[in-house]
Amino acid sequence: MAKRNIVITGGAGFIGSHVVRLFVNKYPEYNIINLDKLTYAGNLANLKDIEDKPNYKFVKMDICDFEAFYQLMQDEKIDGIIHLAAESHVDRSIKDPFTFAKTNVMGTLSLLQAAKLYWESQPEPYKMVHNYQQSSEPEFIEGNSDSCHIDRLSDQSVDCRFYHISTDEVYGALKMNHPEGIEPPFKTVASSEGHKAYGDEFFYETTKYNPHSPYSASKASSDHFVRAYHDTYGMPTIVTNCSNNYGPYQFPEKLIPLFINNIRHRKPLPVYGKGENVRDWLYVEDHARAIDIIFHNGKIAETYNIGGFNEWKNIDLIKVMIKTVDRILGNPEGHSLDLITYVTDRLGHDARYAIDSTKLQQELGWEPSLQFEEGIEKTVRWYLDNQEWMDNITSGEYEKYYEEMYHSNGKLKTEN
Ligand SMILES: NC(=O)c1ccc[n+]([C@@H]2O[C@H](COP(=O)([O-])OP(=O)(O)OC[C@H]3O[C@@H](n4cnc5c(N)ncnc54)[C@H](O)[C@@H]3O)[C@@H](O)[C@H]2O)c1
Repeated sequence: MAKRNIVITGGAGFIGSHVVRLFVNKYPEYNIINLDKLTYAGNLANLKDIEDKPNYKFVKMDICDFEAFYQLMQDEKIDGIIHLAAESHVDRSIKDPFTFAKTNVMGTLSLLQAAKLYWESQPEPYKMVHNYQQSSEPEFIEGNSDSCHIDRLSDQSVDCRFYHISTDEVYGALKMNHPEGIEPPFKTVASSEGHKAYGDEFFYETTKYNPHSPYSASKASSDHFVRAYHDTYGMPTIVTNCSNNYGPYQFPEKLIPLFINNIRHRKPLPVYGKGENVRDWLYVEDHARAIDIIFHNGKIAETYNIGGFNEWKNIDLIKVMIKTVDRILGNPEGHSLDLITYVTDRLGHDARYAIDSTKLQQELGWEPSLQFEEGIEKTVRWYLDNQEWMDNITSGEYEKYYEEMYHSNGKLKTEN
């Protein structure tokens, strides 16, 4: 296995921490750099189990800091970027859209430009791939910033790539032409065959972008910049759009961890509108596995959708959580149903998201590994078993972790 130097941005967040853990454990010969600004959503305690591994390093940095990132590219000879850092909460984007534009759009642009300058400045091993005008034979055009080789890399070449993680929300909202659902309960699968769930339509890789919230608009914009860097400069890019993730280490402002914690502490469960909105849910480790497969085997300039055909109305999902938490805590069935509290709907709340990931299944062989029932059981148990992790966040203690554990260079203090 070749040695690689990979930056994973947003590695202290929910999905990023699972990606960092997977790469650090699976690829001991890779040098994995977790780059994160540690906003309120970043928590290094998510990575306690791997923080002293020799192939792991944490760097506290803002993705908007172009100079610092360009320097990091040079110092660490970065050949792969897996970009997850973002402002990710729709409700916050409605209150403060500027922060979303800054981080998600300008931050992504800053990474792209730094990567472009560094990779273009390198001799052949780091040449950028340019396959949008594909010819049958690999071709080099020396001395041109557009120089590239097509499709195949020479033995010495490093397959550098910029992999941007995005969301299904960029596609907009789908109609609910079957509000009662067709043949629920649905199975978590990778192919659309026979799955109609709450509507006939799905998001495909070719679906036109139509974002509705400031969050999805900022992600859509960043996706366009990533593709533009391929089409204009030959940057070796990949974009993936994934459905809602659930699992351990999610910041408890998001539905699933928030509600598990509230059920445990007998606090109200605020449900937007009538709870009729439909989302497609994927276990976070299945997303991380997809990212691994796509980073290594995905085709440059391609888009892949990632999802599990696992559509749930919010209110049904909440009832499953209530049932699971009550059972595990030994409460009688239905004990916590009285906590459901309907509140004014979110502005511009999209009715239904449903993603088709058949392309990923057929081209790269990825499939979700878990059924939703297993995933939600694992998730509920994890949050109930890790009350200390939750308490550290709700008390704000987690924000001191970096100061206590790390030097400013990202090295653990125990390494003195
Ligand atoms: N959570 C989901 O269901 C979901 C679904 C599809 C796609 N995504 C995308 O996956 C990515 C990760 O999502 P998540 O849910 O793990 O998010 P998250 O909010 O849990 O984590 C985001 C991380 O990015 C870091 N960050 C934010 N601004 C930064 C900046 N300026 N510089 C450096 N680091 C910064 C935060 O500190 C945090 O660690 C995002 O790009 C999101 O759009 C998320």
